[in-house]
Amino acid sequence: MKLSSANINVMVKACRKASKTLIRDFGEIENLQVSIKGPGDFVTASDKKVEKILIDELQKARPNYSILSEEIGKINNDESSKWIIDPIDGTANFLHGIPHFAISIGLEQDGEIICGIIYDPIKDEMFIAEKGNGAYLNNQRIRVSSRSNLKNCIIFTGGPKKESQNIELSLKEYNNFSSKVLIPIRKLGSAALDMAYVAAGRCDGFWQRNLNYWDIAAGIILVKESGGFVTDFRGENKYIENKTILVTNSKINNEMIEVLK
Ligand code: 2AM
Ligand code: CA
Repeated sequence: MKLSSANINVMVKACRKASKTLIRDFGEIENLQVSIKGPGDFVTASDKKVEKILIDELQKARPNYSILSEEIGKINNDESSKWIIDPIDGTANFLHGIPHFAISIGLEQDGEIICGIIYDPIKDEMFIAEKGNGAYLNNQRIRVSSRSNLKNCIIFTGGPKKESQNIELSLKEYNNFSSKVLIPIRKLGSAALDMAYVAAGRCDGFWQRNLNYWDIAAGIILVKESGGFVTDFRGENKYIENKTILVTNSKINNEMIEVLK
């Protein structure tokens, strides 16, 4: 089985093309780690290069769609259809030569994400989903896990950043979850892949504060189409406005909300 609508094909093609540059640049990082200047500027340039390839490809295929992308911000066009792009999610991993990062593209139509792709170029894992047509990893259908007891679950989070206003709160949440689970909480450093892993049943739940729309756009449809829940910390759907996101399989959503109260 395979997802192959017109929009999905456009996204896959853009991703494949951009990933060639991303993989090549990742190969350079190792050399730059030992240089005096370090890889900082190189990574910023790489981020922009990958973004440009994605935008060029997407615009070529859909010239009238709007765009929201992490580096360049907005391109205003027909507002009813919008690509939401994160060229490298997991930038800090990329910078440090850790092979865990992804390209993420969501397609929003009339305010709702209807297609998503998260591509991990190093592991060659492509997670794609389309509203009503399911979620796939490299052309195999994926489902969320069925673990129903938080205690036995593996859960992920990310942050807080140094400049975050909510450091204390984030650490409190971390403490509260730590006391509930047998397996210590994971922090893998890519919110997009965290969400893709919930969709694929590798991870049972994920919560994080202060994410941007481009970090989560593609993940939203992946998780929904694989049978999972995407809510804010209260269980409502204001996760974009409130900048608190909770992503779970269909069984542990309530238990995680209780911990976040
Ligand atoms: P990035 O790599 O594209 O910057 C790390 O916890 C994950 O959270 C990454 O996916 C990172 O995206 C994202 N992130 C972005 N802004 C953040 C913030 N203000 N606080 C914590 N994590 C953030
Ligand atoms: Ca990101």
